Amino acid sequence: MSHHDERTFVMVKPDGVNRGLIGEVVSRFEDRGLQLVGAKFMQIDEELAHEHYGEHADKPFFDGLVEFITSDPVFAMVWEGADATRQVRAMVGETDPAESDPGTIRGDFGLDLGHNVIHASDHEDEGANEREIDLFFEEDELVDWTRSGTTWVYEDAE
Ligand code: RTP
Ligand code: MG
Repeated sequence: MSHHDERTFVMVKPDGVNRGLIGEVVSRFEDRGLQLVGAKFMQIDEELAHEHYGEHADKPFFDGLVEFITSDPVFAMVWEGADATRQVRAMVGETDPAESDPGTIRGDFGLDLGHNVIHASDHEDEGANEREIDLFFEEDELVDWTRSGTTWVYEDAE
């Protein structure tokens, strides 16, 4: 593993899928130089929703959050790159789209806290990226490869 190989979990939520934003979201991470290593179009069931959002089980918004995230398909992805977890969170914006800067995904495509288009692993929650990747993907669903363009993203790429 080089320092370019950090992996992070990202997911277009049902609102983003219904609004046709999968391609836009994928493009942003591709354009940044991150590399896709896994992707899955799927519908989250109740059990997976409870595991994924377990940290919020006691919050008043939990039931609504589970209902929303299971309501329609999501597009789950794993992206790889240097400092990927932190960089992706910065591109996603704040939890509330209304507080997110223009130029971020939530700041460009959302206005409402409950429909904030995208999920990404929390870089301040150590191990969240690996935990969430394991929850959504089997090992053999992730691909070890190097996109040819990736060698031009990093000055010290082999
Ligand atoms: P996410 O996990 O979905 O990527 O979002 P996040 O880290 O930015 O925010 P988090 O605190 O983990 O909250 C998870 C999702 O719950 C909804 N939420 N509603 N009504 C409320 O006060 C409230 N707070 C959070 C949001 O949709 C958020 O994405
Ligand atoms: Mg979160």
